[in-house]
Amino acid sequence: LSTTDVDLAAIQPGQAITVVWQGKPVFVRHRTAEDIAAAAKDDTADLRDKAADGTRVQKPEWLIVIGVCTHLGCVPLGQKAADPKGDFGGWFCPCHGSHYDTSGRIRKGPAPLNLPVPKYAFTSDTTIRIG
Ligand code: FES
Repeated sequence: LSTTDVDLAAIQPGQAITVVWQGKPVFVRHRTAEDIAAAAKDDTADLRDKAADGTRVQKPEWLIVIGVCTHLGCVPLGQKAADPKGDFGGWFCPCHGSHYDTSGRIRKGPAPLNLPVPKYAFTSDTTIRIG
């Protein structure tokens, strides 16, 4: 399928799901107020791959990123409640130790780029279509 529809209604704040789009994992995270505040605050940090949080989300509560580490392609951890989320509260790639923040931006470790945001659109208040 060239598009993937995702129902957001059941994803509680602080929870995340992984869906598959064009054979790749896509992370859909319902960000908490703390996640959003941390991401906005770090817009002014020394970012390796500079991007304001507001340019990476359509609605602040929902972060949608491709779940493939930009170093050598492992799938970072951080989706399940018990997963390590790295030093910046987002994702941690165990392969070589890359840390991503709550906007999916690379903050530490060997990965060069942020987790990419796929093309998506809200098809209702609680559904998105990726692709
Ligand atoms: Fe993620 Fe190397 S593949 S840190």
